[in-house]
Amino acid sequence: MKPRQICQGVFWLGAVDWNRRLFDSLIPLPDGTSYNAYLVQGSDKTALLDTVDPAMVDVLKHQLADVPVIDYIVSHHTEQDHSGSIPYVMEMYPRATVICSPKAKDLLISHLHIPADRIKTIEDGETLSLGHKTLRFLLTPWVHWPETMVTYLAEDRILFSCDFLGSHIATSDLYAGQDPSVIEAAKRYYAEIMMPFRKAVQGNLKKIRGLEFDRVAPSHGPVHDHPELILSAYEDWVSDRVANTVVLPYISMHGSTEIMVNYLVSALAERGITVHKFELSTTDIGKMAMALVDAATIVIGTPTVHVGPHPSVFSATHLANALRPKLRFAAIIGSYGWGTKAVEQISGLIPNLKVEVLGTVLCKGAPLEDTLSELDALAETIRTKHASLQAHPE
Ligand code: FEO
Repeated sequence: MKPRQICQGVFWLGAVDWNRRLFDSLIPLPDGTSYNAYLVQGSDKTALLDTVDPAMVDVLKHQLADVPVIDYIVSHHTEQDHSGSIPYVMEMYPRATVICSPKAKDLLISHLHIPADRIKTIEDGETLSLGHKTLRFLLTPWVHWPETMVTYLAEDRILFSCDFLGSHIATSDLYAGQDPSVIEAAKRYYAEIMMPFRKAVQGNLKKIRGLEFDRVAPSHGPVHDHPELILSAYEDWVSDRVANTVVLPYISMHGSTEIMVNYLVSALAERGITVHKFELSTTDIGKMAMALVDAATIVIGTPTVHVGPHPSVFSATHLANALRPKLRFAAIIGSYGWGTKAVEQISGLIPNLKVEVLGTVLCKGAPLEDTLSELDALAETIRTKHASLQAHPE
């Protein structure tokens, strides 16, 4: 892709990674992603905001071939999908200075071996004049690492937000428009990397709400030219409100746990509760993460393998704990062969989840009427608890 002009003196650069399917060797990317950099040319100086994943540095080098001078390389975030090509750009422009937050300096030196004397740190709110264009830097920790910051270009009313408000989606469109699939991709992105820092994200949202901008230019996905859509979506995701939904990750070895899961899904649906059910041998964990963004309850379904939970359930529960969703309630159901410690072991996996445990329904072997009655009772308890939240939402 060639550079694309956003407005006079401001260009999108970067690489669209249509074929990437996994991030951090963990996160599924069903729609690929992009690594966006932005070139801002003032009357006196030129700045490059972020770079690209080093695997695609040649794309960026090609785009920069006709750019004679870069004075500043702004690094919003040290994770290598944005900073990894800074050393190559520094070689192309030996006089360029790297601009970053105080916390990023140490990280850029550690991760990329950038010489300290080529780094200039900025303080929160500090400005840098390029001549007729002024970059204003705002520290926004934990979107996504502790060192992250954003840049505001007041003259053109653009906010460059890096990971914050971004989306893993490959597209030939420069702008998101009002495409709901971009908001969907942004929700997946929020769920996978921002949700553990929800309170910090709340604070950063308030901070950028104090700025006036028409466009948000993130470092993944298209530019938001209707920024209210992404801002209001984020405000919903980070709020303390939960939805009348249950996330139900499970696996079954011989079918008994699956019978229990299907019975509970039906019992919850009869009570007006939406269930997001994820069979863990086939599911996309990104979808489970998305469902956890606003669910009120998680019900974990597991058979017992050598006394403990199935390893796939162990892994999914560990992930849910790491993502720190705003769940209020939890329950565990499942079948076992002759004995089990699955409940104790799962309970030990979720210290980050500030949930009220609503109970467990365990069954030796295949479920009979007594187990199904217990599942009905659990569904009724969940309905009552959700109803109480709607009466007292905060
Ligand atoms: Fe897109 Fe946290 O890196």
